Amino acid sequence: MTVRDLARKCIRDIISYEPGKPIEELKRELGIKSVIKLASNENPVGLSPKALSAILKAAKNVNRYPDGNSFYLREKLSKFLGVGKNEIIFGNGSNEIIEFVVRAYLDAGEEVVISEPTFLIYKIVVAIQGGKSVIVPLKNFTYDLPAMKKAITPNTKIVFISNPNNPTGTSVGRKEFEEFLKGLPRNVIVIVDEAYNEFVERKDFPKALDYINKANVIVLRTFSKAHGLSGLRIGYGVAKPELIEYMEKVRQPFNINLLAQVAALASLEDIKFIDGIRRLVLKEKHSIYNSLDKMGIDYVKSDTNFILINVKRNSREVFNEMLKQGVIVRDMAAYDLKNYIRVTVGKKTENERFIKILKKIVDSR
Ligand SMILES: Cc1ncc(COP(=O)(O)O)c(C=O)c1O
Repeated sequence: MTVRDLARKCIRDIISYEPGKPIEELKRELGIKSVIKLASNENPVGLSPKALSAILKAAKNVNRYPDGNSFYLREKLSKFLGVGKNEIIFGNGSNEIIEFVVRAYLDAGEEVVISEPTFLIYKIVVAIQGGKSVIVPLKNFTYDLPAMKKAITPNTKIVFISNPNNPTGTSVGRKEFEEFLKGLPRNVIVIVDEAYNEFVERKDFPKALDYINKANVIVLRTFSKAHGLSGLRIGYGVAKPELIEYMEKVRQPFNINLLAQVAALASLEDIKFIDGIRRLVLKEKHSIYNSLDKMGIDYVKSDTNFILINVKRNSREVFNEMLKQGVIVRDMAAYDLKNYIRVTVGKKTENERFIKILKKIVDSR
């Protein structure tokens, strides 16, 4: 018997999620000093100064376990969102909320409707649980909600909608979303992942929070993106209390660390700062669009802080060439987008450096 035989059947063939390369690792590997990371859709500026001082102040208390119910953060967030305190669950990143839903609600063999390409974690978490992913391809880089609805069978338990979608940056509008929810079987849970909601520009964006009482809708949000707290790992889910109740049963009592709780609370109190991040990111995104237009390079218009770019050649090669020059982007080969890279909108100087290198690579063809 091999170790593979010991592993649960459903996890043997999972391809692990490959995170973006950390800056320090690349500096070590290449022996270069100046590295910029435009690979993991992080906020390029940093966290709110108020969040930073809250972290520093709380750091001396880390000999104690954190508040297992995130009492003060919960109170703040419930007012901020206008939802009940029992309609919120906190996770170690919104990634953990994905696990909560699947662990609480999906039995082995049940089906989950997932689009492709989308956030890779959905499929992995479903596989770990022994669930069956039913894949519905994107249409024009966008979620095809009518086709996803058609894919629902009596054995379907969950549908994942990343709105906007990672890695394409596209979103679905209110009309399509409402049409999707109409007449949905009552045994189906719809997870709407809004990790990038702060960056959405379209006017008819359907905030999933408005629908939590109309169907089994669970909204996922995160402090990792606009709030700049990726390193602390904190996200949350919002749903009706009955749905939250079973997710709470599979949550570890101290999953949200003490520093994350105070930082997230302070960040919610500094919404002016977050608005500033939004404005900066959108301005820079449009400036990257302009540069790409001038170079005649195709890309997908995005409602997020990243852009999917068609480099019209092997994306691995482009990724490696950029890496050698100290710019980390995301190679989209793992998402079956072989000629595409995904670039996170960075600071002005970072974006200019990225564009300069991209131009060199394109010109050298
Ligand atoms: C669509 C989507 N959902 C969720 C996450 C995970 O975020 P968190 O850091 O909150 O776990 C990401 C991160 O890249 C994402 O792109």
